Amino acid sequence: MHHQRRDRPVSPLRPPSLSPRPGLRIKSPDQLVAESGADLEGHGLKRTMGLFQLVCFGVGAIVGTGIFVGLSDTVAEAGPAVVLSFVLAAITCIFTAFSFAELGGAIPVSGSSYSFAYATLGERIAFLVGWCLLLEYGVSVSAVAVGWSQYVNELLNSLVGWHLPAALSAGPGDGGVINLPAIVVIMMAATLLVRGIRESAGATAAMAVLKIGILIAFCAIAFTAFEAGNLTPFVTHGPAGVTAGASLAFFSYIGFDAITTAGEEVKNPRRNIPIAILICIGVATLLYCAVALTAIGALGADAVSDKPAALSLIVDQVTGSTVGGGIIAFGAVVAIASVVLAVMYGQTRILMSMSRDGLVPRVFERVSPRTATPVANTWIVAAVFAVPAAFASLDVVVNLTTIGTLGIMVAVNVAVIALRRRNPGLKRSFRVPLYPLSPILGVIFCLYLMYGTGWATWVQFAVFLAAGAAVYAGYSRSRSRLAGADQD
Ligand code: ALA
Repeated sequence: MHHQRRDRPVSPLRPPSLSPRPGLRIKSPDQLVAESGADLEGHGLKRTMGLFQLVCFGVGAIVGTGIFVGLSDTVAEAGPAVVLSFVLAAITCIFTAFSFAELGGAIPVSGSSYSFAYATLGERIAFLVGWCLLLEYGVSVSAVAVGWSQYVNELLNSLVGWHLPAALSAGPGDGGVINLPAIVVIMMAATLLVRGIRESAGATAAMAVLKIGILIAFCAIAFTAFEAGNLTPFVTHGPAGVTAGASLAFFSYIGFDAITTAGEEVKNPRRNIPIAILICIGVATLLYCAVALTAIGALGADAVSDKPAALSLIVDQVTGSTVGGGIIAFGAVVAIASVVLAVMYGQTRILMSMSRDGLVPRVFERVSPRTATPVANTWIVAAVFAVPAAFASLDVVVNLTTIGTLGIMVAVNVAVIALRRRNPGLKRSFRVPLYPLSPILGVIFCLYLMYGTGWATWVQFAVFLAAGAAVYAGYSRSRSRLAGADQD
């Protein structure tokens, strides 16, 4: 099954001086690891995360707004067959997760798909992948913070019977003026992150365990009212509904690759990163399918569809009191906050990698000697992405996050093939099964879900990519640290 390994010493893929054109500059995996290792000896990041912490970190990044807020929209598209939508989205993720696992095990540095693209597809594509990561991580922080804001209002409602007026808890696109709670959660996450990975990882672990517990409790309560008849007819809106649901359901899986952005802070990364990614996808899929089946089984698909804070409302209806719904709302507030924390962490580490390469200003790579964290970087990210959180509509930021993430995943699947061809002898702790079928299927599934996001999102995405290409040509290309070695 496995391809024959060659045990010759690993050598750089191609020395930078031989790069033919700036956009094709390639950085070798050895070089990436060596650069991060050099930092570890001095003022770099500390290796503090083990497998359990890493899985909690992944669950922290994955389980959040998608299931707590987005489930009702997905059920509206697919009916009880929403479980098929979740499975379709999960399959897309699993093919890509195999690719992430192979790349993460081969190139264990902070930087995620950006570093992988730099080592395989060249600097121009790597820059565009890094640019799209501003959607997957940065804009995602905004989207998740808006979802958090909705549940804060739900919690206030059940605790004190009062909530913030729409003007102060939603952006203009969603009928308000400014979303203050969304800004607050982003600033809270930044405060934790600048205090250091140990405290942040500990807080993330506690939140991950709590949120899994809350979702299991939801399933148990909803199951007491379960009636199999509520699950029929099963496929209410045909196969088109299932696939439209899968494009929406995909948002609830975004974040599993955040694990690879912690490469430099993970103990034994070549083993722990691939295992943690696969555990996280499996746990998320089981939880989402169980929540969807018990929710619809309890009240029927119509009662779950298009409702804000649907999980709280279902528990209220099943138990006949607002106490249970309040507890679920509390769990959602905690869960979604942990997503903001983990996703923002990923964004800062990606910018750090890009800054080391000279593609974004150097302020992003500075690590504080006192806290060993990138302080200025973190506050810039918080300030920038608080703006769409405060003013943008949830639909727009969710769709942009989804299409940007799927675009990156296409690149990651292609990168696996490129790395196998360019550097077959590189040490890989994990190899995708059925190579090259797995990454090829990954590309096909990702493109299919991208197609389902709709033309308006495609237009926004095209404009965003064009802006990225302009920034690369006008700023990053000439400042790249690999530039000096080229014969431009
Ligand atoms: N998967 C993340 C969430 O659902 C983005 O909140």
